[in-house]
Amino acid sequence: MENLVSVIQSVKLDDENNTLVLLDQTVLPNETVFLELKEMEDVWDAIYQLKVRGAPAIGIAAAYGVYLGTKKSSAQNYEELFEDFKKVKEYLASSRPTAVNLFWALNRMEDRFKQEEGKTVSEVLAALKEESEAIRAEDEQICEAIGEHALSLLEPGMGILTHCNAGTIATAKYGTALAPIYLGQEKGYQFKVYADETRPLLQGARLTAWELQQAGVDVTLICDNMASIVMKEGKIQAVLVGCDRVAENGDTANKIGTSGVAILAKHYNIPFYVCAPLSTVDLDCKTGEDIHIELRPSEEITSKWYEKTMAPEDVKTYNPCFDVTDHSLITGIITQNGIAYAPFNESLPNMFEK
Ligand code: MRU
Repeated sequence: MENLVSVIQSVKLDDENNTLVLLDQTVLPNETVFLELKEMEDVWDAIYQLKVRGAPAIGIAAAYGVYLGTKKSSAQNYEELFEDFKKVKEYLASSRPTAVNLFWALNRMEDRFKQEEGKTVSEVLAALKEESEAIRAEDEQICEAIGEHALSLLEPGMGILTHCNAGTIATAKYGTALAPIYLGQEKGYQFKVYADETRPLLQGARLTAWELQQAGVDVTLICDNMASIVMKEGKIQAVLVGCDRVAENGDTANKIGTSGVAILAKHYNIPFYVCAPLSTVDLDCKTGEDIHIELRPSEEITSKWYEKTMAPEDVKTYNPCFDVTDHSLITGIITQNGIAYAPFNESLPNMFEK
């Protein structure tokens, strides 16, 4: 079934023009605008401003950004190019701190650079371009595999709650938490999806509700504080969310508000699943305590969505962008290599072995 969502690519390289083409996620659903970026500073800004967002899409954009940034170098040989590469990498790494996919993609680009030792500048640049494209292409397959594993846990007609946007536009294709919805849709599963609006930046309302509606999925938008009532009324049989970093013990950072949804799901005895490519699993973080939570500007809370201010002038704010869901609240972590169950510090490392 072809629709806008099945064909849209939120992050891609325009090969001929050496331009990163990004779907601007800050203006959806009102406008569908594609940005054409040539400079690494523009890529940094697009990541920071959430024009491209969602852990896998951030990683893909950063990989392309490394290629575009390194391509501007005037280096004459491998060693000089590596010095410039390291500066580009360090710069892009400072765009957002929580999604480990950013650092994973940058490190993978560095590994590829090192494999090209002794090659000419143009050969190394060609390798960087190839690697960034491989990261994008692999993500599409990974998301499909996550979707298939997740779908094996679901029954036709189920009510599914999701938080934030872990959909096709947050990845190369399909999404993570929304992948089983799309795969189920193709099989006629007729899920009923409830999308939390996801304050303060409304990724649920603006992005998840938009992309599911475009794909013809039965989606109902709710405010964040309505999750309890829809669960109590028996409308939800499973919660599916994406994530930005999973620690070795299964503690999971995802969009602010996710941990509250997990606590509610436990209360109502509803399974709570986290969907994660292995590039989001960070075994170097032993627990959620080790995960750096991004703090964002006050204006996102006080003055983002109305012409007038939404709060008293100069009121103090606290705007953590993610929270950590304790592993004890998570039923399973669905990766491309299978579903990890507790104890996660045993099952997650095993996922990398498959
Ligand atoms: O701040 P955002 O919009 O980048 O946050 C995104 C999320 O929290 C997603 O759930 C997560 O990155 C997974 S996307 C497949």
